[in-house]
Amino acid sequence: MCGICGYVGKNNGIGEVVGGLKILEYRGYDSCGVAYLDNEKINIVKTIGGVDNLSDLSKDINANIVIGHTRWATHGGVSEKNAHPHISSSKKLAMVHNGIIENYKELKEQLDANFYSETDSEVFLNLIDGEEGDLVEKTIKASKKVQGTFAIIVLSESGEVVLGKRESPLYLSKTAEGIFVASDVLALKGEYFYSLNDDEFVSIKNFQILFYNKNGEKIDKKQEKIEKNEVFSDIFCKSHMESEIFETKDALLKTLKKYKKDDVFSNIKLPKNLNSISLIACGTAYHASLMGAEFFKEAGFDARAYLASEFRYGRELLNKNTLYIFVSQSGETADTIASAKMVKSRKFYTLALTNTPNSLLNRICKNVLPTFAGREIAVASTKAYTCQIWSLYLFSLYLAGKKLPTENKISNIPFLNFDEPYIKEIAGFEKVFFIGRDLDYITAMEASLKLKEISYINSVAIASGELKHGTLALIDKDAVVIAICTQGKIKTKLLSNLEEIKARGGKVIVVSQFDDFKDFPCVKLPKYDELLMPIVSIIPLQFLALRICELFGYNPDKPRNLAKSVTVE
Ligand code: M6R
Repeated sequence: MCGICGYVGKNNGIGEVVGGLKILEYRGYDSCGVAYLDNEKINIVKTIGGVDNLSDLSKDINANIVIGHTRWATHGGVSEKNAHPHISSSKKLAMVHNGIIENYKELKEQLDANFYSETDSEVFLNLIDGEEGDLVEKTIKASKKVQGTFAIIVLSESGEVVLGKRESPLYLSKTAEGIFVASDVLALKGEYFYSLNDDEFVSIKNFQILFYNKNGEKIDKKQEKIEKNEVFSDIFCKSHMESEIFETKDALLKTLKKYKKDDVFSNIKLPKNLNSISLIACGTAYHASLMGAEFFKEAGFDARAYLASEFRYGRELLNKNTLYIFVSQSGETADTIASAKMVKSRKFYTLALTNTPNSLLNRICKNVLPTFAGREIAVASTKAYTCQIWSLYLFSLYLAGKKLPTENKISNIPFLNFDEPYIKEIAGFEKVFFIGRDLDYITAMEASLKLKEISYINSVAIASGELKHGTLALIDKDAVVIAICTQGKIKTKLLSNLEEIKARGGKVIVVSQFDDFKDFPCVKLPKYDELLMPIVSIIPLQFLALRICELFGYNPDKPRNLAKSVTVE
């Protein structure tokens, strides 16, 4: 998490870096800052809050060498002193850092320096400053002593800029206007970029870029083409989240068209005797993976989804006949990346399903299956989720030897808001439960996550068959239960659960295409293929979370305590 940016060149670097930070703000938005060089003196401007505050504070500054940061707090609370950039005790160096230095406490005790913040980053900076040699040598030496992850830009009072990275992304590009550095390709300018591998370092001096490996030896690097994610919509909406939900149909259609045109599936290298599929992901992408596992089972494969944060430390026996699919909108999520690296290092078959061209996950995996949802900015994932489900569904058809659907299939996907009167009612409850069985249970989990994430209402998803095994004890007049039913085979079972809830005074609202729930208030879904109902049913539930968030006056695009890419464990 956190966004870092740097600029060395002819333009006003403040404008370039603050503009870059604005693009990266989705990575963290609790505080931000810039450091710049003015007559061989390092100056710093920092502030709590978003990049707009920083833009106001720095608008009269002009500097050609600037580094900047937008923070998602890990070590040390949200305060101006903990915001980056940090300055070293000698005042000769400033630094911005993404990642976590795990052994910072031990290192801090060994350093003879003044500390102005509670951060691990400041310890790393003073460690660099205390080493012998030129700035790259110092940085390389210090990096050998730190444990953990980092992407750093170090600025010296002499005007040299040094970059380094370990398990946290960092990229740079060079144009006629200058050198641009960022933790996401999105914030770079130009047509080509360099990507740093772990334990590679860069020195930028007199407009010259030199690359080094961890032994301090100069290395050559090749540039790659920047592929930016398309921004689709000019629909006027109150928030990115709202426009992104409205873009769902375009995203699904574009993904289908691309798959057909480029024949993507036949380019995927599969194990010769493919018999099982494992999907590994976090958060919403994990829910899409659970859905995908069901599609692959339907296609005749043994399939299972894992939380990446568990998988990487788990006891799974890896198998050469398994395809490991890593699902991630950003392609930068730390636990998903670590899991992919682990599988790749053992030479098993990996596939990255991402929505971000040039992402780290794409580089790690043997195969890449892109989704074409366009750039997703809101922290709450919506169109990327439906696109992941769609993509996994299409891949399962391919593996089962079936034809891909026609484009009409998408045009006919019904699109639905959540019924207005229920929104206010649900917002008034202290306890919100989402229940369902089979695919609807997965939708319940995703709906519950969306509600928690942006409305801050505590909600829980329960497999409806599990109610009686404990959770029913919580049902009373203060509880509302949103019951999802899109799978014909479980209607009658769910009906009995609803009666049990009603008998205990709980309020029930059903989300379903079936006519069997006449005795309950119902958000009526249109009829569609049952296997694809998870795409149809999640849309009103995404709207439910959004509308409650709006009702409470929160910003749906930047929920508290969260960030779009979770690049730390
Ligand atoms: O970029 P990823 O898809 O790997 O992100 C995984 C989760 O952090 C993400 O889906 C998160 O749960 C969403 N913010 C939920 O809306």
